Amino acid sequence: MDPDFNSDLKLMRLANAFQVSCAMHAAARLELGKYLNPTGSTVNDLAELTGTQARRLGALLGFLAQLEVVAELEPGIYGSTNLTDRLHLVDNIAQGPEGLAAWTGLEQALRTGRTPFEAVHGESFYDYAAKQSEQSRRWNAWNSNASKAMAPAMAAAVELQGDETVVDIGGGEGFVLAELLTLHPKCRGVLFELTSATGHVHPILLEEPNQVVEGNALEGLPSLGNVYLLCRVLVNCDDEAAELLLSHCAQALRPGHRLMVFEPLLPEPGDPLRNAQAASDLNLFVLWGGGQRTRGELLDLFRRAGLPEARELPRTSVGITGFEMRLD
Ligand SMILES: C[S@@+](CC[C@H](N)C(=O)[O-])C[C@H]1O[C@@H](n2cnc3c(N)ncnc32)[C@H](O)[C@@H]1O
Repeated sequence: MDPDFNSDLKLMRLANAFQVSCAMHAAARLELGKYLNPTGSTVNDLAELTGTQARRLGALLGFLAQLEVVAELEPGIYGSTNLTDRLHLVDNIAQGPEGLAAWTGLEQALRTGRTPFEAVHGESFYDYAAKQSEQSRRWNAWNSNASKAMAPAMAAAVELQGDETVVDIGGGEGFVLAELLTLHPKCRGVLFELTSATGHVHPILLEEPNQVVEGNALEGLPSLGNVYLLCRVLVNCDDEAAELLLSHCAQALRPGHRLMVFEPLLPEPGDPLRNAQAASDLNLFVLWGGGQRTRGELLDLFRRAGLPEARELPRTSVGITGFEMRLD
């Protein structure tokens, strides 16, 4: 093959992108965020604080400065940026070394269809998370930050009369539900979640008994209210699990009850926006065996699960689309 320096350089940069992830993981585990400050420290001081070799730590800091994760204030003096304080957050099961290891199983998984996280770690993401390691605690916190940011838009999209009992299935630490209860103070809220995610639930859900119910919706769902929510839960499920979970929702519904499902929709094939979602879509497969679904794929899942006909709600400002299914 003829030499083509520019193409080789581009290929090398792309193939070496793992170096960015590994540098971030090392920086997070060395707790650089704790030791760097806005006024700056020498590499030698930072090496002493982190118990590392100054020469190599200097190279890591230089690399991180290129990425704007830290700032080189003067030659050999490094300070914090607005990313540094938050650096430890990425040491979680999804973005940390566990997630990276799962991605190394991608090629094999494309052949077998088996979820890479399970193939690499020997158990599912949620079973791994249930061990309550520091990395799983940080994952819940990361998820909650996303939930907090989306909660006002999500709560505004849930149409309520104001006196219902709302059951948020897989509601994380309860931020969407808390926002709903603030908007509709006469409603009651029940968070139905895996035990691994209920360690630090929103305080509003601890004000009354039985507002937090630990359980696995894949094993069954008790009738706990009259409006059921599933926000961004199906993306983390393969088709079989998603259908099972939805069929448990269908069984829990009584006449007059509703299920509202909120999901990011995968653009249709040919839509120029579809490729922009591809990395996130693959990541959902690598970690959970899930993925985003098109409108048609979701409606098909609802039908297969035996749910009443779905009414599509307007897309929320955070890019999530809702579907409402009411049992007459
Ligand atoms: C992406 S988070 C969404 C959290 C929240 N609904 C939101 O929109 O902010 C998915 C949540 O689903 C929960 N989950 C996944 N499978 C579940 C199951 N089988 N039963 C109950 N909860 C589940 C996870 O623990 C996680 O908190």
